[in-house]
Amino acid sequence: MCGIIGYVGPRVAREVVVAGLQRMEYRGYDSAGVAVIADGSLQVRKKAGKIGNLTSALAADPLPDTEIGIGHTRWATHGGPTDANAHPHVSTNGRVALIHNGIIENFAALRLELETQGVCFLSQTDTEVAAQLLGVEVAKGVDLADALRAVCRRLDGAFTLVAIDSAQPDRLVAARRNSPLVVGIGQGENFVASDVAAFIEFTRNAVELGQDQVVDVTRDGITVTDFDGNPALSRPFEVTWDLSAAEKAGFDWFMRKEIHEQPQAVADTLLGRFTTDGALKLDELHIPEEELRSVDKIIIVACGSAYYAGLVAKYAIEHWIRVPCEVEIASEFRYRDPIITRTTLVVTISQSGETADTLMAIRHAREQHAKVIAICNTNGSTIPRESDAVLYTHAGPELGVASTKGFLTQVAACYLLGLYLAQVRGTMFGDEIAQIMNELAAVPPLIQEVLERMTPIKGLARQFGNTKSVLFLGRHVGYPVALEGALKLKEIAYLHAEGFPAGELKHGPIALVEAGVPVFVVVPPQGRDQLHDKVVSNIQEVRARGALTIVLAEEGDLEVEPFADVLFPLPKVSTLLQPLLATVPLQYFACELATLKGYDVDQPRNLAKSVTVE
Ligand code: F6R
Repeated sequence: MCGIIGYVGPRVAREVVVAGLQRMEYRGYDSAGVAVIADGSLQVRKKAGKIGNLTSALAADPLPDTEIGIGHTRWATHGGPTDANAHPHVSTNGRVALIHNGIIENFAALRLELETQGVCFLSQTDTEVAAQLLGVEVAKGVDLADALRAVCRRLDGAFTLVAIDSAQPDRLVAARRNSPLVVGIGQGENFVASDVAAFIEFTRNAVELGQDQVVDVTRDGITVTDFDGNPALSRPFEVTWDLSAAEKAGFDWFMRKEIHEQPQAVADTLLGRFTTDGALKLDELHIPEEELRSVDKIIIVACGSAYYAGLVAKYAIEHWIRVPCEVEIASEFRYRDPIITRTTLVVTISQSGETADTLMAIRHAREQHAKVIAICNTNGSTIPRESDAVLYTHAGPELGVASTKGFLTQVAACYLLGLYLAQVRGTMFGDEIAQIMNELAAVPPLIQEVLERMTPIKGLARQFGNTKSVLFLGRHVGYPVALEGALKLKEIAYLHAEGFPAGELKHGPIALVEAGVPVFVVVPPQGRDQLHDKVVSNIQEVRARGALTIVLAEEGDLEVEPFADVLFPLPKVSTLLQPLLATVPLQYFACELATLKGYDVDQPRNLAKSVTVE
């Protein structure tokens, strides 16, 4: 996710800002920039790539010493990672420079409005809309904080904004909605940032802004209001973490932090997909609708966790679209001479966008004239570039090697794609699609609820510290969840783990079950034809052979209770949405167990985050 810092005070602002950006490098980014005010005008330096590129640009063309500055590391969402798209963005009239974290959903309409008024845009970003709107307001003589409040009232979506005005070199303003912003309170100096890591070197006194608040910052103090200008309460706190912990927002591992980011990541993936008339839109998809209507086969191609996300998606896609959907491991795809025609739609899923096996599969599919849609988390990476269309997951950077929020957002994005295809092909009514979208939109707070129930999972990790093998069972969409749970244990806790379709157990794997073997079972919601009861029988089968059953089931599921040694209740959702909840305790269990075993959770042995070799 983007990193944001703003400074006003007696130090050399440029240095404070660049140091703050370096402290937030862990957040992941693909371009960086700084703006200061000198002699009544804005000066900006910004560069694609690492902060090193920015510091080289600053060395070649230095910025003056000033007492105010803002800086940004950008994780590209709208528009690729280029110099022009990097922040800060300056309004055409040269009055304001602005940085942004988040997604402005209604930017296209606002951009059109501004262009009609003659405003000339220099980037492809949603952010520039906010910079231009603010520039227009202050040029009318509106006070800077009032102007920012007016802009915020016009924006839909998620945003943290920080802005400076060339006419006021002693003041910066910032705002937040659904995106983080903290203020650092120093002695005769103040800071704003995405997180405390950016200013912890200078002060540990911080203020957390609430939802829909604007802060007006000078070196002597801060004033907090809501978007209408009413005084607002914010939460002061003292930072007790050291710098390395602050980078992980107080978590011990990036993986654990990313597990906890999942409610936000899923919400961001779903953000802005409905038009005002209630139709679903995927604006990164540029394949003509007639071509999508003529598709007679879908092949999902991916690796590892992304492949399991595809397995989940198959159930939804075939159910909603009534088109055969195959799911294929990318490294196997082109070697089996798959049947691909012009009417085959290939969907690739990749968090990094650089996985060589997946990339080779895309090239093969396109050589056979299939259309390729990429579901990807990394704007500007190779896989989206080589695909016909792309749907971004907006999970923010995933730094832990084991995929967590990557997986959950891939499932959510696959569902969006499935619903979009159902809409285009007319296989579902608009109100059916809207109902599922509403159910999806309700999922992020439920993931949060699951995250708040982790105490028994921690106990299980302590209990199974010396276990040699763990089994995971599921049926229907619970089966890929079982595979994902097993993969997490293998890769970070180095433990033998297998996921099975629960019904397949009796055809062989049940021989592995012996006294004390932990078996996690994902139970579908009750009332799902006979599936629920069948899984309850499967639990009894393993329990009769001495297994210790850890059952993930819908809360209030009394039928399952007698057969669960440990019962983990999941909030009620429909069967297809259950993976978005059931995966979370399994991720957490693996993280907890690996931590107890003293392993490096974020960088497990033999693994890399981006697998760029076949
Ligand atoms: C598992 C994991 C890997 C990746 C796989 C695909 O936790 O992280 O299995 O899912 O290497 O990576 P991407 O999604 O980047 O193509």
